[in-house]
Amino acid sequence: MAPKKIRKAVFPAAGLGTRFLPATKAIPKEMLCLVDKPLIQYGVEEAVAAGCTEIIIVTGRDKAAMEDHFDSSPELEYALAAKGKQKLLDSVHAVSKLAKIIYTRQAEPLGLGHAVLMAKEIVGDEPFCVLLPDDIVDAAVPCMKQMVEAFEQTGSSILASEVIEGPAISAYGVLDCAPDPRDPRLLDVKGMVEKPKLEDAPSNNAIIGRYILTPKIFEMIEQLTPGAGGELQLTDAIKALLQHEKVYGFHYEGKRHDAGDKLGFLKATVSLALKRQDLGPEFREWLKSFPIQ
Ligand code: G1P
Repeated sequence: MAPKKIRKAVFPAAGLGTRFLPATKAIPKEMLCLVDKPLIQYGVEEAVAAGCTEIIIVTGRDKAAMEDHFDSSPELEYALAAKGKQKLLDSVHAVSKLAKIIYTRQAEPLGLGHAVLMAKEIVGDEPFCVLLPDDIVDAAVPCMKQMVEAFEQTGSSILASEVIEGPAISAYGVLDCAPDPRDPRLLDVKGMVEKPKLEDAPSNNAIIGRYILTPKIFEMIEQLTPGAGGELQLTDAIKALLQHEKVYGFHYEGKRHDAGDKLGFLKATVSLALKRQDLGPEFREWLKSFPIQ
């Protein structure tokens, strides 16, 4: 039997964004812009490109700017139309038509697993994807689309993974895994650890912020006890899921930027700006002439 179609994407977006203060004092971290598009929009566009029609954003206090961003904006659209700024009008209009967006709240910051649990009733009994807005994946075929195609083959939960060398591995969930003989991109997952010390990391395959999960995950989250950092960790729930179902790691094609980190955010900005037809050539020339010593 073919696995159920992936229609829903969950975006945990309730975090305080402390790493970007003071920028995120009044603006949600997910609304910080890479070139001219907020982080959350990159993720939502990726989910839509993967076939999702329902976007579930798990928000918290002071996140209203996100809701406004994906809503229609009649005054702005009227003003742009009156000035004949058709291209801008189209871009503004398109954002509000991307997908059906549902907001739910995570009242307390109890961890990523808890944030995903907030979407339980909206997701219901079907597989779904989770995208962490901090992770931006620049890819010819959108990362989540690659994962949905892999899910159509396996019918199992799939975690995007990247090889991370050295002590930086301790910032991630890390897979205990072996290559899958059927597909060089798939990893057969046996276990996983959230934010291990370098010496305890079971491999150098880190989990990055793209997941496809079966609905059984909600039961696993409900049984969680606090893990790393005292939080209800999604990684621990997926580890528990392994007792019931297969889980795969997935080496996607593309370049991930950690836009949740200041340096990563700067690198993402430069990299995406260089790829822009309207800005890239001039920006490249300027960078070349920039006196870096
Ligand atoms: C979260 C997850 C972690 C994963 C990471 C990917 O951690 O808990 O397993 O490797 O996202 O970005 P966070 O970055 O929220 O600390």
